[in-house]
Amino acid sequence: MPVASIFSTVQEDLEKVEAKLQSIADVEYPVLSALLRHILNTGGKRLRPALALLSAKFHCYDLETLIPLASALELLHTATLVHDDIIDNATTRRGASTLNTIVDGRSTILIGDYLFARSAAFAAESDNLRVMKIFARTLTKICDGELRNMLGSDDLDHTRREYYRKIESKTAALFVAAVESGSVLSNAPENEIQALVSYGHSVGTAFQIVDDILDFVGDERKMGKPVGSDLRQGTVTLPAIYLLESRPNDVELRRLMRHHGDFPDREEGIKRLIETIANSSAIASARNEALDFVQQAKKALFVLPDNKYRRALADLADYVIERSS
Ligand code: IPE
Ligand code: IPE
Ligand code: MG
Ligand code: MG
Repeated sequence: MPVASIFSTVQEDLEKVEAKLQSIADVEYPVLSALLRHILNTGGKRLRPALALLSAKFHCYDLETLIPLASALELLHTATLVHDDIIDNATTRRGASTLNTIVDGRSTILIGDYLFARSAAFAAESDNLRVMKIFARTLTKICDGELRNMLGSDDLDHTRREYYRKIESKTAALFVAAVESGSVLSNAPENEIQALVSYGHSVGTAFQIVDDILDFVGDERKMGKPVGSDLRQGTVTLPAIYLLESRPNDVELRRLMRHHGDFPDREEGIKRLIETIANSSAIASARNEALDFVQQAKKALFVLPDNKYRRALADLADYVIERSS
């Protein structure tokens, strides 16, 4: 199912989020305004705001606080992408040039910081201390995850545990924040909030596993961002872990994956490795793992009333595994 039809029940609210997002480019300094517009106009799937909006629908909420909250989540996400692209040296994002190809690295970092600050201000508009705490906890976690990714241990024997820890921090945490803060703002009972937390954790985990699979088998044009970059950056993800596990004595494979710098035959080796993984059972095995998380996510939803919003959340879980962009 296309993501637009899954979001149809919150479409009107999403348009309000879009307007709120655009408002951040209304700043006095024209250079900053143009750069912010560039980031905002390239769009994105808007999954996190949609998750917050859907999660609030089970009880009564005030749109005056929910829209800023949903916008805050998208801005927080956008800020992490701006920083992620400079870390990963990526040149395209959402089908457009990354900020780090338009301005220098130092300015890119500051614009990421600027987005973090504006997103915190939006979150504060919720006037809800629990939401602010969720927000601060999430930002801490994402930084922790990205740092683990960057400085990652070279111990390939502990990779699987480390992998899950990393993706829970850098990706699932924000999905959790979206559903948790959305339901908090609707004054949902605690058991429903916790059901959504569990849903968010599973969907977010599946989402990153699929992103990591698509880095091997995805279509660059559909994704709007480079593929094949994780291994090049020294990021060992689930499909690569499966290959490592199937070849416990392959020293050459470990040398290639462990090496973060350049050596003469590295690019050739990485290319071959990507092809090997893309054509191996590692992809199906990783997909099965993502599928398990999707099933868990859908199970967690049973606590909530059975209505069109619950069905949209279930459809979103299915979309995560089917997606190609
Ligand atoms: C990309 O997230 C970053 C990951 C967590 C893998 P999305 O795929 O949701 O990015 P946009 O917002 O749609 O561009
Ligand atoms: C997710 O990881 C990045 C963040 C959560 C910021 P990736 O590095 O895999 O994301 P993409 O593939 O660049 O979108
Ligand atoms: Mg990246
Ligand atoms: Mg990726």
